[in-house]
Amino acid sequence: MKILVTGGAGFIGSHLVDRYVGLGCEVIAVDNLSTGDRKNVHPQARFVHLGLSDQRLEKLILEEKPDLINHHAAQVNVRTSVSEPITDLEINLRDTIRLLDASGKAGIKKFIFASSGGAVYGECTDPPTEAAAPNPISPYGINKWAAERYVAFYAQSYGFDWTILRYANVYGPRQVPHSESGVIAIFIDHLLKGIPPTIYGNGEQIRDFIHVHDVVEANMRFSRLNESINDVFNVGTGRGTSLNELVSILNRTLYQPIPAVYTRPKFGDLVRSILSIGKIEKWGWTPRIDLEDGLKELFTRGG
Ligand SMILES: NC(=O)c1ccc[n+]([C@@H]2O[C@H](COP(=O)([O-])OP(=O)(O)OC[C@H]3O[C@@H](n4cnc5c(N)ncnc54)[C@H](O)[C@@H]3O)[C@@H](O)[C@H]2O)c1
Repeated sequence: MKILVTGGAGFIGSHLVDRYVGLGCEVIAVDNLSTGDRKNVHPQARFVHLGLSDQRLEKLILEEKPDLINHHAAQVNVRTSVSEPITDLEINLRDTIRLLDASGKAGIKKFIFASSGGAVYGECTDPPTEAAAPNPISPYGINKWAAERYVAFYAQSYGFDWTILRYANVYGPRQVPHSESGVIAIFIDHLLKGIPPTIYGNGEQIRDFIHVHDVVEANMRFSRLNESINDVFNVGTGRGTSLNELVSILNRTLYQPIPAVYTRPKFGDLVRSILSIGKIEKWGWTPRIDLEDGLKELFTRGG
């Protein structure tokens, strides 16, 4: 099976590449290295240094004719999407449309798209199921949601299968502290340097933290080519953890705990973001890595 992973040098994408290579797949990792790192890419994968907007991407897809395209490249910063909405639109929507069109022309069999639960649903009192009405509150969320609709549209037009995975807050090895969702990477980075972690607001913001290895397994569940499930799935733990709790869990692994410092809340931060995962669990995937274990492992390996 031949698989093309966009964003294959990034945090989640590089773990996907590792797993596909481990399964014996032929893997092409495409990335412009804007936030990713060449060193993350498995040596047995073919790395192609290319931006999504580059004309050569369509040529590559038409020549290589992958069976599956797993699309993880994106402008991932919510705040950048607010300050530069056109850039976000170009990378996260326009370039996704181009990729879908090239995928259809090349006759791929399946397309997997990394979306975001928190960004698509917006603020919710109860954990939203996939049936909840989207209510994005940032250009990033608006473009992720619109891109989801284009995935379904192009898949139907060209006749390939598709899966949309709406992630909660993903954490794990190789995450770099550059995005809001990288709060764990930021806190660990600070604590290891002896710097107090900064919490914006009172720290009672709730997040659903999911380990990257669990996210990879969710992708594996829907990478089979002999099934046409064609649907949207939340990928999280269904459990919420406040940022205050997060800091205390992390501090438990330190000889001398470093309390957080508090500052003004950031405009547009969600108060509560937990995903309901009943639907994906019916398809045989469930999160396996407990937050405390995942954090302990991350901490001991140095973030
Ligand atoms: N990390 C999370 O908590 C989280 C949550 C929800 C959704 N997601 C989604 O998962 C995907 C992967 O996110 P991540 O956390 O691994 O971030 P990341 O920044 O580590 O990975 C994105 C990768 O895409 C590459 N890239 C960016 N723009 C590109 C372009 N125009 N052309 C080619 N490559 C480009 C970057 O260099 C990087 O390697 C993204 O689509 C993101 O929106 C992540």
